[in-house]
Formats: sequence, structure tokens, C-alpha cells
Amino acid sequence: MTRIYNLSAGPATLPVEVLEQVQKDLVEYSDAGMSVMEMSHRSQTFQAIMDNAEALMRQLLGVPENYKVLFLQGGASLQFAMVPMNLKKSGKVAYVDTGSWSAKAIKEAKVLGLDVDVIASSKDDNYTFIPEIDADYTQYDYVHVTSNNTIVGTEFKAFPDTGDTPLVADFSSNFMSGPIDVSKFGVIYAGAQKNLGPAGVTVVIIRDDLLGLNEGLSTMLDYKTHAAKGSMFNTPPTFSVYVVQLVLQWLESQGGLAGIAAKNQAKAAILYDYLDQSDLFKSPVREDSRSLMNVPFVTGDADIDAKFIAYATEKGFANIKGHRSVGGMRASIYNAFPHQGVVDLVEIMRQFEEENK
Ligand SMILES: Cc1ncc(COP(=O)(O)O)c(C=O)c1O
Repeated sequence: MTRIYNLSAGPATLPVEVLEQVQKDLVEYSDAGMSVMEMSHRSQTFQAIMDNAEALMRQLLGVPENYKVLFLQGGASLQFAMVPMNLKKSGKVAYVDTGSWSAKAIKEAKVLGLDVDVIASSKDDNYTFIPEIDADYTQYDYVHVTSNNTIVGTEFKAFPDTGDTPLVADFSSNFMSGPIDVSKFGVIYAGAQKNLGPAGVTVVIIRDDLLGLNEGLSTMLDYKTHAAKGSMFNTPPTFSVYVVQLVLQWLESQGGLAGIAAKNQAKAAILYDYLDQSDLFKSPVREDSRSLMNVPFVTGDADIDAKFIAYATEKGFANIKGHRSVGGMRASIYNAFPHQGVVDLVEIMRQFEEENK
């Protein structure tokens, strides 16, 4: 077996220890006589998996009592619609535009007829930084931010204090990469397939007072439905939840969120330090806004970029091509991407630079 370095932005690399555990459990989970995939979600065995996943997440993140942790389906993309549907009051909402995922969230709020104010944007500068935010938050039902911008590689280092107005954050690509003060948010949501597990499950953490603000929603689109049933209103994505639970156990073994944050900082620093002194490769992102998870870089010459992508692929680094909307390269170095992988990546970048002077 040869596992290569997978720099995919998502679905992304998972801890090998987790994959090995999945392999052990695959045909028969514990002494259940069947796999998790085949078992009723109403069974005690699966209920224990769901309970454990929630308990671990609460413990690792320090989720306050007055928040629900939900495991839903439909991806973060469905949250772009569920948030406005569930949280609207007057209908006036604020969004910070930091890239195409923010733009997609804004579009969904508009589709639902909400009056969207874009209170800050870095669009005119190709989204290369997190903009300053200065607004009167009191007039809005909620304020929405994208905490990590997977495509352009920017990340909020601090969040606006929106006072009594709920702050909503799409944490899809940096969820569980470090501690979060959950009490500062009304809603946090994240698709699992980057830092938390396989595709198919989306985590939503929502403050209790934001449940049930709107009557008459379709049952499945109402957070209240899922909160009342412990994410078991309908069949949950059982296998994905089971793997998430294993990834959370793995996170615990990494020193929890403080431990993984230190590892992520060290990994990202190796790559950014190299980029900052390289004569060939550059980070397009402003220093104060750089993501620890997704690191885009360019040479400024599309032909050399293509040559490097082929070179890196040949050396065993998969999925290093940048998103089609920005070009160049992108290294997604989520929690499970190994430290040695970043060291080795910088080494081949150095070699390529030397050979292409
Ligand atoms: C920041 C961000 N938000 C939302 C999404 C959409 O997620 P999903 O494909 O789970 O709907 C992605 C996917 O890459 C993302 O990176």
C-alpha cells in the first residue's frame, strides 16, 4: 500500500489511524455482527455512536449548555438557505463577502427575499485579505461570515463583536482546527469533509433561543425538528457520523484543539516562511489574513505553474492544482495532513526553484 500526500481541499485526507480503525470495524462493528453501514439508526449501538460523537464535540469545543449540536445532511450549501429561513425576523441581514462561498451564501438569502447588506468585502482586491468590518449591527437579524475561505486561502483571526445580533459563521474549512469561543456565535456550521470526516454530514451548532423563530417551515428545513430529535428525526448519515466520532477521538489524542492548533501553526509556518523568501513562488494573500488550512501560491506564469503541478504530482503530491477560479497551486493542509508532508513539499518546491532558475 502506498499512500501519497493528498493536498485536496475536500473531501480531504483523513488520519491513517482512523482509516485503519474503520477497516477493522468495517465487516463487524464491535460485537454487533454487522457493519455500522448496515445497522438501524434506532439501534442502541448506533445511538451510542451518535451520543459519543456529540459528547466528544461538546467537550473538545467547550460547547455551552444552551447550544444544540446537530448532525445534518445537505452540506454547508443547504445551510446557506436554512440560516436565513430559520433566523429571519425583520428580514434585514448582514453578510461579509470574503469569496465565492460567501457569495453563494448571499445568493441564497436573496433568493428567500431577504434584504442583504454586504457590510464588508475584499472582492475588488481578488479576496486576498479579510476586510475590516464596521457596521451598526443592531439593525440586522444576524451577521454572516465565512471563517475560512477555502479557495482564496484567507481566514478570520478575530471575529466582529456583533453584540445582541447573532453572529453566524460558515466554518466548513477550518472547523476543529483550533479552539473556538462558541458563546460568541449564534450559529456555527461546517461540512465534515475537510477537517472532520467523510462527506455526507454537516455539523450545526445553534444557540437555543434561535430555534423556532419562524413557523411554517418545511419540517426538514426547520432546525427545531432536528434539535427536538437529537439529529434523529430521519435517518442520519450513520457511517459519516461514525467516522466523525473516530476523528474526534483522534483529535483528543492530538492534545485537543489547543494541541492541533499548535501543530497547524507549525505546519503552515514552514510553508509560508518558504514562500516569503522564495524568488519563484509567492503567496497572493496578505500576511495578516493567511489561512492555516488552505495555502494558495503562484509563480505568476501559468506555464511554470502547470510545470510545477506536473512535477509535484509526479513526486507523489496529489491535488495541488489551485481552484479553477484563481489558478496556480493550493496546498490544503488540514488537521490530518502530516507535518512531514509539508516539510517534503517545501523540499520539492526548493528543488523545482533551483532547477528552474
Ligand atoms: C467555506 C465553504 N463553505 C461551503 C462549502 C460548500 O460545502 P458543501 O459542498 O458541503 O455544501 C464549501 C465547500 O468546499 C466551503 O469550502
